[in-house]
Amino acid sequence: MTKHLLTTVGMERAELEGLLDSANEFSAVLQRAIPKVPALQGLTVATLFFEASTRTRLSFERAAKALSADVMSFAPSTSSLSKGESLKDTALTLKAMGADIMVVRHGATGAPWRVAEWTDCPVVNGGDGAHQHPTQALLDSLTIRNHFGKLDGLRIGIVGDIRHSRVARSDLYAFAALGAEVTLIAPPTLLPLDVTGWPVKVSTDLDEVLPELDVVYLLRVQIERGGSTVFPSLPEYVTGYGLTLERFSRLHPDAVVMHPGPMNRGVEIAPEIADHPRSLVLDQVTAGVAVRMAVLFQLGTGLVKS
Ligand code: CP
Repeated sequence: MTKHLLTTVGMERAELEGLLDSANEFSAVLQRAIPKVPALQGLTVATLFFEASTRTRLSFERAAKALSADVMSFAPSTSSLSKGESLKDTALTLKAMGADIMVVRHGATGAPWRVAEWTDCPVVNGGDGAHQHPTQALLDSLTIRNHFGKLDGLRIGIVGDIRHSRVARSDLYAFAALGAEVTLIAPPTLLPLDVTGWPVKVSTDLDEVLPELDVVYLLRVQIERGGSTVFPSLPEYVTGYGLTLERFSRLHPDAVVMHPGPMNRGVEIAPEIADHPRSLVLDQVTAGVAVRMAVLFQLGTGLVKS
């Protein structure tokens, strides 16, 4: 991460640890009566989300405001995208209106890289296709580190639709760089065709791996990206890979459950587990604001005019 944050591939431990330390400092700011610092006063953060989002978009906007930046929010359904305006023209238009930093989510792999080339703005990848979602990896790493004190030696199982998951592709590099042992667990049809060079183990048997895990990281079944064509039915998916109450009872008593959201309750996670004290789902959401403050602060401080 120099000018942009586009991917976790190649991020080193020291850089990740530095961002997590910075995020914990911003967590303290967010606990204050007035949860705001003037760090990015005068800058404008633009959120360009061409795909739906609740957590990522709103937490970036909350983070920008907590750093005293202005926010410019692009919504495709009410924009000139419906008149055929291109991604390039949309990005250049926001830049011409004064955007200093852009957060981009797009269904096409690589779209945030193109926006970075066209605008010369610092760009944060808010999720591109099934490729990368680096701030999700940072907030997940922070949640685990704050719970266990470290990631070194932890056994983390990422379960579900790995093939279509930008969260898995981002998380596995960050978790491995921070010292965890990562296992991808899915039916063969939901595993990537090739994981050569990935710092992971792979299993198709959740029940075999489950008792050894410290963290069970469940992924959403992504029906909209073709999930329904790669397993016979949702009940069969639950039978093989859903975290049911029975499976939960076989976890180590200190093991925790995570999910990036949005959850399909009753599919990849039983509703009672989603609400269980050993579910860190809402801790992940809270960590997301502080992590995004740390990222925006790092990218934006050099742009602030005195
Ligand atoms: N985890 C995540 O990216 O959630 P949103 O799609 O709601 O942003």
